[in-house]
Amino acid sequence: MALTPAAWWRTAAIYQIYVRSFADGDGDGIGDLAGLRRRLPYLRELGVDALWLTPWYVSPMADAGYDVADYRDIDPVFGTLAEAEELIADVHAHGLRIIIDLVPNHCSERHPWFREALAGGPARDRFWFLPGRGEHGELPPNDWRSYFGGPAWTPVGEGQWYLHMFAPQQPDLNWESAEVRAEFEDILRFWLDRGVDGFRVDVAHGLVKKDGLPDVGPDPDPADLPYQDRDGVHEIYRSWRRVADAYEGERVFVGEVWLPTPAQFARYLRPGELHSAFNFEFLVGAWEAGPVREVIAATLDTHAAVGAPPTWVLSNHDTIRHVTRYGRERTAFDMGDKRHGAPSDLELGVRRARAAALLTLALPGGVYVYQGDELGLAEVEDIPAELLQDPTWERSGHTDRGRDGCRVPLPWSGDQPPFGFSPPEAAAEPWLPQPAAWKGLTAEAQAADPRSMLALYRAGLALRRDLVAGLAQTLTWLEAGAGVLVFARPAGEAGAAGGFVCVVNFTAQAVPLPAHEEVLLASAPVVDGLLPAEAAAWLRR
Ligand code: NOJ
Repeated sequence: MALTPAAWWRTAAIYQIYVRSFADGDGDGIGDLAGLRRRLPYLRELGVDALWLTPWYVSPMADAGYDVADYRDIDPVFGTLAEAEELIADVHAHGLRIIIDLVPNHCSERHPWFREALAGGPARDRFWFLPGRGEHGELPPNDWRSYFGGPAWTPVGEGQWYLHMFAPQQPDLNWESAEVRAEFEDILRFWLDRGVDGFRVDVAHGLVKKDGLPDVGPDPDPADLPYQDRDGVHEIYRSWRRVADAYEGERVFVGEVWLPTPAQFARYLRPGELHSAFNFEFLVGAWEAGPVREVIAATLDTHAAVGAPPTWVLSNHDTIRHVTRYGRERTAFDMGDKRHGAPSDLELGVRRARAAALLTLALPGGVYVYQGDELGLAEVEDIPAELLQDPTWERSGHTDRGRDGCRVPLPWSGDQPPFGFSPPEAAAEPWLPQPAAWKGLTAEAQAADPRSMLALYRAGLALRRDLVAGLAQTLTWLEAGAGVLVFARPAGEAGAAGGFVCVVNFTAQAVPLPAHEEVLLASAPVVDGLLPAEAAAWLRR
């Protein structure tokens, strides 16, 4: 199958694979490369253009692989380097591309560099080791808090501390160090040589810290924090671009950039820096016509100003699944207050998720599908506390259940766990328990049902590839009643068919569709020209 054309990343539909939970090939209850390779036909049929794999490197798994001990090898739980090379070839043979996760802000405490640093001496310059405050250095060097809760510093004796913006097992690398910079350029080449099509950059806003590591203070300005979005970070991406641009094909960087203002965010996407970044503003926004329109308009403006393609993301491995979010009374998502366990009307959540799928697939730019979105999975909120694995649970003093609920292994087939996630003879259970109710949501069950979420995604992705992706990368808002959004996508330069309109009804009543020639696809049955409540449709005018 032919790969999609150049500048593929500008309109790509990218499927996020959370490797531990996608498919288990060897029967240990943990997803791996062998399992993934067997499921490539499923992904090709789904109709995505590329895959993004969460970290596969050697890791003690203190943060599910975001604590890397060897950036040039695969963790044995996932497979071997040879298998990774075979997987890259297989992915390409299926007409797909592959983006891997790069974790440059921190490594694992088991990384040889950190072991060396613990012993003292200049090896510490690759990290942030500082003397503590207080008479004997018994207090942390500054007041920074880890994103996972608790202080961002851990003592190592003799009044010395090291910085970790995430778990203590994830020491922050010091990007002032020339060795750190050279090492990561080399890691990029290592994987580019093996044929990867790009990198998702973890914590892309965080690598450079403010000189002197000053206190945040009691009332910090969120747009000016000493541990994120420092000007110096942009030079790193410019140097990475020089590395990647020397390779054949378009090898890309997509940034995980969480920042409070669109202006800060856009600076990462200037020519010569990252190709694109996840649109978290859209992800965290409320499911209401006004806010959705605003965030779409702001996203398009911000990206147009730097010539970068916008992206649309509904869920990922760090957030509550959107079926659950959209079934709640307050649909906006707050990373600081995830409202675990707040009541959710899942039927409503699924209706909205179907509409949201058509909305995001119809917008200009690139789109991400998190594994299980296409099955309409909800957050699993009843994992027994003793089985929770996310470090957030412990670090928050058992107040935040963390992210395990969106990381439960996928249901593929059959009517009881492991639902085809592991081979039938597998000895081990899936690493997180799957709800019995997933019986009706397996890929197998949904493939046989034309009204399923999977069928909707397949149809939407196919039409997107054949029709929508070729349209001009802009949209025009059309007149619509309160609570309804209607936009048209003008015909593209390549002469792609015009007259494409997307209608999203956020209200609780059916609304008449605007004049059209044909309903191309709808998230709920259109009868007598009426679009049902909480639904979306694609029209040809
Ligand atoms: C963002 C990743 O998506 C998340 O899963 C991880 O815990 C942190 N970065 C730290 O690497």
